[in-house]
Amino acid sequence: MSGNDKIYIFDTTLRDGEQSPGFSMNIEEKVLFAEQLVRLGVDAIEAGFPVISDGDFESVQKISRRLKGVQVVGLARANSKDIDSAWGALKDAENPRIHTFISSSDIHIEHQFKKTRDEVLDLAVAAVKRARGYTGNVEFSPMDATRSDLSFLARMVESVIDAGATTVNIPDTVGYTIPSEFSRIIRYLFENVHNIDRAVISVHCHNDLGLAVANSIAAVEAGARQVECTINGIGERAGNTALEELVMAIKTRSDIINARTDINSKQIITTSKLLSRITGVSVQPNKAIVGDNAFAHESGIHQDGMLKNKMTYEIMRPDDVGIVKSKLVLGKHSGRHAVLDRLKDLGFEMSQDELDRFFKYFKALADKKKEIFDEDLIALISEAIYRDEEKRRFKVQNVQISTGMYSPPMTMVTLKDHYNNNAEVFEVAHGNGGVDAGIQAVKKITGTEAFIKSFNLVAITGGSDALSEVSVTVVENYGGKELKVFGSGVSVDVSIAGILSFVDALNKLEYLKKYNGIHGDAQNVSL
Ligand code: KIV
Ligand code: ZN
Repeated sequence: MSGNDKIYIFDTTLRDGEQSPGFSMNIEEKVLFAEQLVRLGVDAIEAGFPVISDGDFESVQKISRRLKGVQVVGLARANSKDIDSAWGALKDAENPRIHTFISSSDIHIEHQFKKTRDEVLDLAVAAVKRARGYTGNVEFSPMDATRSDLSFLARMVESVIDAGATTVNIPDTVGYTIPSEFSRIIRYLFENVHNIDRAVISVHCHNDLGLAVANSIAAVEAGARQVECTINGIGERAGNTALEELVMAIKTRSDIINARTDINSKQIITTSKLLSRITGVSVQPNKAIVGDNAFAHESGIHQDGMLKNKMTYEIMRPDDVGIVKSKLVLGKHSGRHAVLDRLKDLGFEMSQDELDRFFKYFKALADKKKEIFDEDLIALISEAIYRDEEKRRFKVQNVQISTGMYSPPMTMVTLKDHYNNNAEVFEVAHGNGGVDAGIQAVKKITGTEAFIKSFNLVAITGGSDALSEVSVTVVENYGGKELKVFGSGVSVDVSIAGILSFVDALNKLEYLKKYNGIHGDAQNVSL
């Protein structure tokens, strides 16, 4: 490795991450998240797989048009239709990249593609040439590279570089390799691909054996200069290389790794939390870097050491990853200016429209809750700002719950229906507790057949007046397909948060049916 080499960080949270069950996002959420990735300082954002659905196409297009100073990538299989579609979505980007792929392993070539090595090689070369007809920034991935015959892999890499690929990504598609082997594969390519200096070598590791970050680091040490990762390590099956872990490993062990990234590590926590809020999936408490316990020292011996000198047990400082001791920010009487300053410190910049909406929600919360913390603000941002109300069919106007130890719980819900001239409809229902009664009332109003598959409750801040967040997984059978969505709701009242989360999910189902392409290859569609 020469000097303090830059490692390019290619984020695929919105593609590989988003395609895994439980992590779907709608277009607005993807744009919002992409903007946060820019603040984090990633070099490239894989924004989606445009040919797969109208929704994917539109989100890649929106991200391409909106983001500046970052490469925006669209994925395409090695065929003209995919590549043309990727370019259609990317063409307005300041810095577009087409990423095309086909398998190089015999297992895939014979059993999935039912082709010969020479045939897939020709398809790979043709795909890269077609993509080069659109842009000078083309990435190629030989899928399942780590289970491929090495000499064939080298031949494929050499051929696509000759055809014009500027980045060649070596994926461990099934998370099968281990660090020593992956390092040997990368070194083999450097030694046997004659034109390898004309492309950036990238790696893309899956975490089936829990080795994605270790394998990526081994590849960096062997000469790879781009790493594909996702926030919180989300992705197919066990996920992908976790960006935050890779970046902090490179930063913390720069004495050995001798490389650097341009990631602003202070944005890591905000990015991780934003993803959790959008998808409704939290990371486990002991998750490296971003888990709630990652910097918590519980044992007496550790605490004693920490009090004497932090270096005894702390290898990274919490503020390096953006953990600020939860600051009491504001309350009812705080001025707009103070709130704006805090939002800026947290790394959020918003348009005037977004701010106006945000303040409406902020004031409503401040009326109910005396002290507002950073976590509350982040929850409000994702809950209130980034959900475009115009695209939401139902709006909860009112919830009234009556319950007691000896009286059957009863909830009245009033909804406004945006598709029906904003008509207000209310219903009352009984149930097994206030939330269940509220959900039955919502079902009566909307006539939905959707049902809740999982229900998850978290208190965002401490205290009995804490904001609660409920996330639900909701499923509906629609035209022979299973639609699965995630909804979240935030309120100081736990039951109301539950009802809001269900209505949020119903809005996503409506959105999916109305705006998103439910067609193509998709068997199970989620948002
Ligand atoms: O895991 C994989 O091989 C992929 C490719 C499309 C790069 O995600
Ligand atoms: Zn992958």
